[in-house]
Amino acid sequence: MAYRDFSLSDDLYRKTLQSIPLATQTHSKSALNFPKGVSPNFFNRGAGAIVWDVDDNRYVDYVLGLLPIVLGYQDPDVDKAIRTQLDKGIIFSLATELELELAERLLELIPCADMVRFGKNGSDVTAAAIRLARAHTGRDRVAVCGYHGWHDWYIGTTTRNLGVPEAVQSLSSQFKYNDVNSIESLLSNDPDGFAAIILEPAGMEDPRSGFLKEVRELANFYGSVLIFDEIITGFRIDLGGAQKFYGVTPDLACFGKAMANGMPIAALVGRAEIMTHLEKIFFSTTFGGEALSLAAAIATIDKLKATDATKRMSTLGARLKSMAREVLNSLNLTTRFNVGGPDWRPVVTSRDKNPILATSLLRQELIENGIFMGSAFNLCLAHDDDQVFANTKSAWKQAMYSVSKALSSSNPADWMRGELIQPVFQVRPKS
Ligand SMILES: Cc1ncc(COP(=O)(O)O)c(C=O)c1O
Repeated sequence: MAYRDFSLSDDLYRKTLQSIPLATQTHSKSALNFPKGVSPNFFNRGAGAIVWDVDDNRYVDYVLGLLPIVLGYQDPDVDKAIRTQLDKGIIFSLATELELELAERLLELIPCADMVRFGKNGSDVTAAAIRLARAHTGRDRVAVCGYHGWHDWYIGTTTRNLGVPEAVQSLSSQFKYNDVNSIESLLSNDPDGFAAIILEPAGMEDPRSGFLKEVRELANFYGSVLIFDEIITGFRIDLGGAQKFYGVTPDLACFGKAMANGMPIAALVGRAEIMTHLEKIFFSTTFGGEALSLAAAIATIDKLKATDATKRMSTLGARLKSMAREVLNSLNLTTRFNVGGPDWRPVVTSRDKNPILATSLLRQELIENGIFMGSAFNLCLAHDDDQVFANTKSAWKQAMYSVSKALSSSNPADWMRGELIQPVFQVRPKS
């Protein structure tokens, strides 16, 4: 049987490694994440929910550039807004009206948003939120939960802390999602020490009933600023974020990723009393007000609203979950894999005794059958299409059939045609 050909991808990968460490700008897009030799390393175009690699293999894409694509690749309305702005200019020496236009939309949608500042990456605005919380409280320590970007204040709490000074590492402490005691034990040991509690309000698992409210109450009691990192939940769970969906309002919140259907923009929003410190605190970048991304964000948010996209994506996620579980059941694979997590982002985890091998086999077989997927079904509006669903179902079935054959064989590793994946690090709970 002839398998997919990745020879152009592999050549380009070898060449690129000579000039770019890891051959990519983003850890989660590196060859560590997909089985080397049986996965593409480079894509060169996308349309709707479909992408093509440099060898011209076609995939239904459930990674979506790590979640910025929310409507679909080459969305005509967003692309038109970008082209219209391109005819006027990309960036200027003063602010543009687009900043206010976008700010007003966020203020209308997001419960905690009295004021807004823009950045380019999620890491820009999480770092700004932490600086703001420190300035507001006069405290230094931070309690963290989830992933919050590449800056020292956060990454020092992970196993990827190489290069982060110990003095900085000592200021941030992790707590466990859905475990309010793990926050309380940090805060009660240093009642006046914590400037901020920052967490991803939802994601790999749903918040336990009352959890977010209890975190809110703890932040109030200890005088810490509560920050929701909505970089993933934003514009997916609800247009007002997880704070709207669950009815718990933080002091500050960070948005990015899906905000502009792929254009680089992020937003820090929050209570005016805290946000006004930004007149004195230094949070300032050359590209913060770049106009193409602002125009794209306005068009994206307007279209998400007009198409009822968040509801449609959740409904689709629920359908995908039950389809995927039915296949697992029929192949007796439920002890090996779980499809869980929220409907707006179904998460696939391995329960196998050798999860790296099982996940590597799954990714290998999904790719072979035309599905590009990491640990979750990342969804965009273009996935809400009968043909895309049918493609996904038949590819998932075929891939899982091959995986079940491999895992029930005497030596499953023999079924790997490529190398095993190497996860970057585990910062979120498994669902
Ligand atoms: C929850 C969360 N916060 C922050 C970030 C950092 O965003 P960026 O990679 O755009 O800097 C990410 C990125 O994956 C994220 O998932």
